[in-house]
Amino acid sequence: SADLDARARAILTGNDRGGYTVPTAGLYPFQWNWDSAFAAWGFSTFDADRAWTELETLTAHQWPDGMIPHIVFHRDDEGYFPGPGVWGTGRPTPTSGISQPPVAATMARMILEADRSKAPRAAALVPKLAAWHRWWIRARVREGVVGIVHPWESGRDNAFDWDGGMANVDGSNVGAYQRRDTSHVDASMRPTKAEYDRYLAQVQWGKAHGWDQVKMADEGPFLVADPGTTFILIRACDDLAALAAAAGVADEGAAEMAETLRGGLGTIWNPDGYWDSRDLRTGVFTGILSAGAWLCWLAGAGRPEMDAHLARALGGVRYAMPTVDPTLPAFDARRYWRGPTWPFYNALIALGLRDAGKAAEAERLRVDTADLIRGGGFYEYFDPTDGTPCGGKDFTWTAAIWLAWIR
Ligand code: DGY
Repeated sequence: SADLDARARAILTGNDRGGYTVPTAGLYPFQWNWDSAFAAWGFSTFDADRAWTELETLTAHQWPDGMIPHIVFHRDDEGYFPGPGVWGTGRPTPTSGISQPPVAATMARMILEADRSKAPRAAALVPKLAAWHRWWIRARVREGVVGIVHPWESGRDNAFDWDGGMANVDGSNVGAYQRRDTSHVDASMRPTKAEYDRYLAQVQWGKAHGWDQVKMADEGPFLVADPGTTFILIRACDDLAALAAAAGVADEGAAEMAETLRGGLGTIWNPDGYWDSRDLRTGVFTGILSAGAWLCWLAGAGRPEMDAHLARALGGVRYAMPTVDPTLPAFDARRYWRGPTWPFYNALIALGLRDAGKAAEAERLRVDTADLIRGGGFYEYFDPTDGTPCGGKDFTWTAAIWLAWIR
C-alpha cells in the first residue's frame, strides 16, 4: 500500500546519517556491513545515486588485506558496546576487526540491472569486491568452506550453530563491562550474559594478536564452518562475475572462485541429510537444522533432502521462514536467531528459491513477510508462530526489502 511504501522510504531516509545508513537508531548506531548492502537495495527503488553511495561508503573502509569490516564506526556513540576502543583495530576511521556475510555483490548486481546507467560506479566497485572475496578465501575458507571466527561474523549472532564452538571459548577473564543492547530492547530477546562474555573474549583475542586475520582463523579460540556465509559467498562470486560483465570489466576470477567453493561443500553436509554448521576445530556438526541451510538454493546447492526439510518447516509455522526447524525442541520462537523469522533473511532465501524454480515457496515467503510487516511494523524480526514483532523497530533492512522485494 502507498502508506507503507512511504513509511519504508521515511525509515531509510531517517536512518541515513549522510552517505551511510544505520540499521536502526539506538540499538545499532553505526554502519553495519550487510545491513548497509540491503539499505542500498532499498534506496535503489527511489534513488539510484544514493544506493551506489551506500555501497561506496561501505567499501571505502576496506582493510589493506581486502577485508571489509562488519562495523564502520563513523562517529562515536555511547549507546553501543563494544565500541571502537574495545576493538582497537587502529584503522583511520575506526572499524571492527571481523567481517560479515558478503551480500554486497548480490545487491550491486540487482541494483545495476534495474538501472544500467550506473555501470561506471559498478565498475569501480568490482576490484574492491573481488579483493574482499579473495580475502574470504585466504583468511576464512578452511576445509573448503567458510569458517567464521566470531558468531557476529555470521550475522546470526546467537544461533545454535555456534554453541559448540562457544563452549570452548573461555569467557571468565574478560573483566567488567556494561552492555548497552539491553537498554534499547528487552533482554529476553537478546543474547545472554554468558554469550556476551565469550563474544568479548574473542574480540580481546583478536586485538591481542594485532587483528592478524589468518592467525585468527588458524589459531584463534573459535572457528566454525557456517553454511549461511558459505552459500552467500558462492552466490556473491556468481553475482560479481555477472556484475563485472554488465559493467564491462574483468571479473577478476570471481566465476572461478564460485566453482572452487562449490567443490568444497561436502564438509558441511551432515550425513543425517542436511546442510549443517560444523566446528572446524573438532569436526563436530551442530546437529540442528537452522537458517544457514535455507540459503543453499541461493548458491545452487539444493538437494532433494532439503526439499523435504523446507516443506516441513513451511508446514510448521504460520509465518515462514523460521530460523530453526520448528519441529525441533530447540526451536525458541522469540529469541533472536533461535527460531524467529527475519524479513531481510526471507528476501535472501526467496531469491534462491526463485532461481531454483520454487516459485510457490518463494511467494509464500513474500506473502508471509508482507503480512508480518502490515500487522506489526518494520521490526527487526518476528515470532513465526503468531507474528509478534521483536527486537528493534523502524529497521533499515526491513524497510529496504519491503520496497525492493515485497512491493
Ligand atoms: C550486536 O552487537 O548485537 C551486533 O549484532 C554485532 O554485530
